[in-house]
Amino acid sequence: MTAVENPASTIPGTGLVDKFGRIATDLRISLTDRCNLRCAYCMPAEGLDWLPKPELLTDEEIVRLARIGVTMLGIREIRFTGGEPLLRRGLVSILDQVTSLEPRPRTMLTTNAIGLARLAQPLADAGLNRINVSLDTLRADRFSQITRRHRLDDVLAGVHAANAAGLRPVKINTVLLRDLNDDEAPELLAFAVEHGLELRFIEQMPLDAQHAWRREEMVTSQEILDRLSTRFTLTPDPSERGGSPAETWLVDGGPVKVGVIASVTRPFCGACDRTRLTADGQIRNCLFARSENDLRTPLRSGASDAELADRWRAAMWGKLPGHGINDPSFLQPDRPMSAIGG
Ligand SMILES: C[S@@+](CC[C@H](N)C(=O)[O-])C[C@H]1O[C@@H](n2cnc3c(N)ncnc32)[C@H](O)[C@@H]1O
Ligand code: SF4
Repeated sequence: MTAVENPASTIPGTGLVDKFGRIATDLRISLTDRCNLRCAYCMPAEGLDWLPKPELLTDEEIVRLARIGVTMLGIREIRFTGGEPLLRRGLVSILDQVTSLEPRPRTMLTTNAIGLARLAQPLADAGLNRINVSLDTLRADRFSQITRRHRLDDVLAGVHAANAAGLRPVKINTVLLRDLNDDEAPELLAFAVEHGLELRFIEQMPLDAQHAWRREEMVTSQEILDRLSTRFTLTPDPSERGGSPAETWLVDGGPVKVGVIASVTRPFCGACDRTRLTADGQIRNCLFARSENDLRTPLRSGASDAELADRWRAAMWGKLPGHGINDPSFLQPDRPMSAIGG
């Protein structure tokens, strides 16, 4: 990618452009860094301090920043994530207010589905468009091993409740770990086909709090496809990929599809259209960024909407062309995935 010199970040009225010409229209908001699971690829078994409450954006502050994003900066999609977003008490009210914005953004949620059995209908009623549920295994013993909690039944109940509430098709996010659940890929796809779910595998990324990721241990997208091909015929999906992180394949000729997000082995940074807001009010222009831009301090010091929008533009202007995972000089960000918002 070639950088341009003219800093569009300083031109009022423009969207979230970076110097490589990408435009961010997809906002990921982390509602909390807390979680009720402890997935091995995300969090350590014990420990990890939560953000202090006074540092967290309030519901009103989140809605204000979402409004600035939508009405002044061209944001068209908002995904709520975390940590575990269902743990945020104000979630339904925040969603309700965000779906009332004009122009109305498409809204999504990424969740581990614990508590979703109760919340799926209120979320659908508040206007949620889509939901992604993280589920790495269908076997209770493996679930407990990966997440260090015995909650598989709650997750499955959440998936079925989301389907029943009309949040279809529910997307399932799966991370495969070597010698733990990597043999289960075909079984998970069969489950998805049976229940009308859209399955997407995510390559494990170096974003765990304990910094234990090892490239040589990671299950690659090619291995995932090889595993799936033992039971299904996969053909490349001819439809337009756009800015989607997932490459998709038709399963047994379609219409069912399966996706792979190959962030490590087939990076898609050139088409990235994402901007991120952490639960404590920092803008991150990339999942792997090593620096952040603080919106919370100016927001609490009386900055106007226009000033906050300018700071947001400036934060995005500095986005790097790629995440650099494959460079020898790559350094994992200090914040783990759970605090950034996946
Ligand atoms: C950080 S979680 C937050 C939302 C919610 N707690 C959940 O698990 O869906 C968002 C997504 O990131 C994925 N994830 C977490 N750590 C990851 C890692 N190191 N590599 C790849 N994906 C990861 C999870 O599997 C999940 O699908
Ligand atoms: S992946 Fe999601 S559910 Fe698992 S520990 Fe991280 S934040 Fe929690």
